[in-house]
Formats: sequence, structure tokens, C-alpha cells
Amino acid sequence: MNPRTIPVTFPAFIPHSEMPPVFIPPDHFRELRHDEIFPNHSRPLEIDLGCGDGTFITGMAARHPERDYLGVERMLGRVDKTARKIERMQLPNARIMRLESAYTVAWLLPKASVSRLHLLCPDPWPKKKHTARRLVNQAEFLDGLTRILVPGGEFLLKTDDQPYFEDALVSFDSRTHQFERLDWPDDAFFYPTTDFEQSWLNIDRDIHRARWRLITA
Ligand SMILES: C[S@@+](CC[C@H](N)C(=O)[O-])C[C@H]1O[C@@H](n2cnc3c(N)ncnc32)[C@H](O)[C@@H]1O
Repeated sequence: MNPRTIPVTFPAFIPHSEMPPVFIPPDHFRELRHDEIFPNHSRPLEIDLGCGDGTFITGMAARHPERDYLGVERMLGRVDKTARKIERMQLPNARIMRLESAYTVAWLLPKASVSRLHLLCPDPWPKKKHTARRLVNQAEFLDGLTRILVPGGEFLLKTDDQPYFEDALVSFDSRTHQFERLDWPDDAFFYPTTDFEQSWLNIDRDIHRARWRLITA
């Protein structure tokens, strides 16, 4: 049979428990469908960009079985560690994808699908000539956020890096027609400390945090 004529079918329903912890997109060159990542698109989907060893997403997924969590990470060793944690903790609502964050947000994640996107202790890119690599400085990333967040969806940032944080404030201040800043008191909600955050706290570095809500798409 000509391979072009082979029909592509998708199972109507894949039980959560049968999904492998590592998610490999079926096609890297088109927008994903929500049900390709997790089968039930009516459940809230949260994304952790640069999830490292997966401490945050596994902690969140264990605490919130009613929500789905996708980690995005480019380093293979960290992807493996996260996948092993997901398996060990038997979390049907957590998966990890090995891919680049900016591309994932700009091109892959489905429109209006993400209820919260977390960016926790991102690489700071401290050299002046590299600051354009900070996600919060990239128009494509910010436009991508407005595309993938559900109305009222949130972007949450934590960083120990003051210049990175200031760049984020400037970027979101220029988009007040799209995002409003929300308070984020300590006891607002359950939010596990990440590995990098803990290592900064251990040496008494301040962690800056901010939270924005999408007000228009
Ligand atoms: C400083 S670590 C923070 C890890 C974790 N979020 C934490 O707070 O413990 C930054 C992580 O982002 C990943 N990362 C950096 N740039 C990335 C990119 N463009 N796409 C995907 N992952 C990226 C790194 O491999 C690393 O695991």
C-alpha cells in the first residue's frame, strides 16, 4: 500500500495510566492537539518550562490529580530523571517532553489550552550580549503566551536574578492591554520549591516572583 494512503487513526480514548511518561510529539512541525498530550482536554493543563529534574511538576501532579502537567526540558539527563520520578511516583497526570522552550510556546502548544505556565529559575543569561535570549525579552515568546493561555490563564515566574526579573517587569508593563499582574502572597496556593530555588535559598539569595493573568487573547 502506498504509505500516503494509509489512514491515520487515533484511539478515541487512551486511559491516563497507559501513557508513557515521556511525551514525543507526533509531528514537530504543526500545532499539537490537546488530546495528543493528555486525553482529556477538559482538565486544566499546566506547563513547566525548563523543568530540570522534575521536582516541581511531580510535586504539583501528586498534589493535584485533577490537573495535568507537562514538563519541557532540553537536557536528556534531566528528562530521564523526570521520567523516572513520574514512573516511581505513579503519576498518570504528569509527562515530560524533550524540546526547546521558546519553540514549544511559539509553535507547538495548542491555542488556548494552558491554564498556567510556570517559568522557574530560568537560565539568567547574564552577559549583556546574551540578554535577548531571556524568554521574557522575546516578542515571539510573549505572543506565544497570549496564543496558548486560556482566557484568564496565568504565567508565573520565579528567579533569583534581579536583571532577569526587571526585564520581565518591563515586558509585561508594555502589555497591560493583554496581561494584568496578580498578587502572589506566600500562602496563595500550594507551590513546591524547585531544586534551583532551594539551592539559592540555601545561600540566602532573594527569590523574585511575579504572576500575570491573560486578560485578552
Ligand atoms: C536553572 S535550571 C532550573 C531548573 C528548574 N526549573 C528549577 O528551578 O530547579 C534551567 C533549566 O532550564 C533548562 N533549559 C534552559 N534553556 C532551555 C530551553 N531553551 N529549552 C528547554 N529547556 C531549557 C535547562 O536545561 C535547565 O534544566
